[in-house]
Amino acid sequence: MTSPSTTLSLVDTDPAELAVDAIVIGLHSQTGEQDVAGGPAGTLLLASGAESIAAAFDGKLTETLALLGATGAPGEVIKLATLGTVTAPVVAAVGLGPEPTGAAPAPETLRRAAGAVVRALAGARRVALSLPLPDDADAADALRAVAEGALLGGYRFAGYKTRPQPARREPVAEVLIAVPEAGDAGARAEIERAHAVAGAVRLTRDWVNTAPNLLRPPAFADVVAEAARAAGLAVEVLDEAALAAGGYGGILAVGQGSEAPPRLVKLTYTPEGGGNGKRVALVGKGITFDTGGISIKPAQGMWEMKSDMGGAAAVGAAMLAIAALKPAVTVTGYLPMAENMPSGTSYRPGDVITMYNGKKVEVLNTDAEGRMVLGDAMARACEDGTDYLFEVSTLTGGQVVSLGKRISGVMGTPELCERVRAAGDAVGEPAWPMPLPDEVRKGMESDVADISQVNAGMDRAGHMLQGGVFLREFVTDGVAWTHLDIAGPSYHSGEATGYWTKGGTGVPVRTLVHLVEDVAANG
Ligand code: BES
Ligand code: MN
Ligand code: ZN
Repeated sequence: MTSPSTTLSLVDTDPAELAVDAIVIGLHSQTGEQDVAGGPAGTLLLASGAESIAAAFDGKLTETLALLGATGAPGEVIKLATLGTVTAPVVAAVGLGPEPTGAAPAPETLRRAAGAVVRALAGARRVALSLPLPDDADAADALRAVAEGALLGGYRFAGYKTRPQPARREPVAEVLIAVPEAGDAGARAEIERAHAVAGAVRLTRDWVNTAPNLLRPPAFADVVAEAARAAGLAVEVLDEAALAAGGYGGILAVGQGSEAPPRLVKLTYTPEGGGNGKRVALVGKGITFDTGGISIKPAQGMWEMKSDMGGAAAVGAAMLAIAALKPAVTVTGYLPMAENMPSGTSYRPGDVITMYNGKKVEVLNTDAEGRMVLGDAMARACEDGTDYLFEVSTLTGGQVVSLGKRISGVMGTPELCERVRAAGDAVGEPAWPMPLPDEVRKGMESDVADISQVNAGMDRAGHMLQGGVFLREFVTDGVAWTHLDIAGPSYHSGEATGYWTKGGTGVPVRTLVHLVEDVAANG
């Protein structure tokens, strides 16, 4: 099951003469005042990059696009037969919204536009993008955004249909990006980087979209370990016997209800020459299916809990990108994996579990399983030694209630929360800082153990914060850490939009890679 691939390259020849199936240009909307003749407000403006195509249409391109209903709104794609005016048989105009005054469009605008148009052009094999790229200090960011958007919009999950789908248009296989100089070393490096990073996002999507019967913990551990070894990472897989010998009570408790036993996968990237001496730990929740266990979830929509390993998938795939990008910092990934099932061997409400760091946890709701596996993995990461610990998980429905489907919640050491917020902002994966209030911790006091797993009065207030407060117990003093709750943003249930396809989104792979590069560059 490999999803169809998309490859990128650079061109610097005249877009009007490119032998491709479609040539893409950008289109701005102009929602200014009414025009002088009292006509409708709003005119179209071709974006830079479209000059030679416009010339080939004798100045009638904007008019023709308007006739076809173009508005230049973000995400809009209008296709036009070129009838021999240019070499490509089709021009596709992608909306970029209003032209920002005196500047090129924001990277996220370009990323979404590239994604939307490559998606809309499925069925074409080879397309070229001639979008507005600045030639100043922002050039690399803009090119990176277009490249990532194209690769991510070109993603499609292979799926399991037994018959070929004749009516289905295949995703674009080859994307050429028009730049001022195709041989430019910086531009070429961006393309290589985009293949590594978007490749990791696509792999995360594949893992998340894989049916949960085909990716139970042992299989998930195997596929991650195999990919990691091939990438040159050091790999350690703890099976159920090793977990028992090591005292990983949280991972074992969650995993004990399933016939497919739990795993803890550890991946290490060591930079040549030791890097800058800093160590980063990435920890991701790997619940391959979350039924809720004995505290079982309602049937409605339960199938989406196949995505409850999105954090581990993102960490595993980000480690592969890191192996390719070779930042000057040591990075270790921890992927605790378990299947949360109800059975005669399941853990139950009322159980007291001794976690890896020795803390005793009173279980009150077996559906709060993520924090159990993560507590162990985070304690292990701290024991191994780390300067920064970034944990990512589909932890609570409360995240979706508080911040919605696009914005993740970040909790932890305040300065590091700000760094995660800034990283998310830079890559188009927004995250917003949330507090860890004392009263929430007080509400988790247990009568019998060191801490309850959720609010002891079963008060649902601040569910996302309860998750963060609980996980803090497993971080050694002095380690800067964050918990990123990605319950909403990691999975897209609606129709495709921009560079987001249906299903797994690959959030927060690009944030993790950005953070690691940030620590490599700035300590
Ligand atoms: N995996 C879920 C959280 C989740 C919900 C992810 C919706 C994605 C979409 C998690 O294990 C869970 O069940 N959380 C409970 C916690 C509660 C029992 C304290 C929740 O959010 O209701
Ligand atoms: Mn759960
Ligand atoms: Zn879960």
